[in-house]
Amino acid sequence: MPSTLLRIAVLASGRGSNFAALLAARANGQSPLEFVLVGSDKANAGALQLAKTAGIPTLVLDPRDYAERRDYDFALFERIAASKPDLLVLAGFMRIIDADALTPWVGRMINIHPSLLPKYRGLHTHRRALEAGDSEHGASVHYVTAELDGGPVIAQAALTIEPGDDENTLAARLLPLEHQLLPAVVALIASERLSLAADTIIFDGQVLRKPLRWHQGALIA
Ligand code: GRF
Repeated sequence: MPSTLLRIAVLASGRGSNFAALLAARANGQSPLEFVLVGSDKANAGALQLAKTAGIPTLVLDPRDYAERRDYDFALFERIAASKPDLLVLAGFMRIIDADALTPWVGRMINIHPSLLPKYRGLHTHRRALEAGDSEHGASVHYVTAELDGGPVIAQAALTIEPGDDENTLAARLLPLEHQLLPAVVALIASERLSLAADTIIFDGQVLRKPLRWHQGALIA
């Protein structure tokens, strides 16, 4: 176990339940973590309130204050860099990030996405899985690269689509899995078992050829 805490910055636009799961993982000692910043593009994001309650520094940057998306992204990443995180976690950050702004972070930034990537990059993943008649659905945690939802996939949690499922029931069943998957991946990074070398994931010193799977409460190869 490394002797130092992994410094984490989080970006979230919405209710922040995945951030809450990370907070819980720190609280129960699952991971040696320190949250250095929680940032959002939305002043009313639930994650900000959770961070304030936990005494974690927060940042709100409103995209409407910037002429170009690129200007916003560079300003945001400059502020994040100032907090010196080891890892940046996108936990429901609902913006596409400029490729030049994010490139310096490749290998140090992960995202949770509600589909079994490479299926269903982008939005409306539950609806698209249902419309395609898929028998299973899930969530993925991946390293972020300039390709939207296209970076190397670290780990996935899957569930069976039941007859009668709709977008809401699927989302509701998937969310608790997301809340286990994301902290489990962060724990691997915090314990230095996982890293990205060029576009290859290294897990326990070996090339990871397919994503880890969340199975019965643990990540397995
Ligand atoms: C999650 O479904 C996550 O997979 C997606 O956005 C949602 C965020 O939910 N990227 P929350 O804000 O963490 O509750």
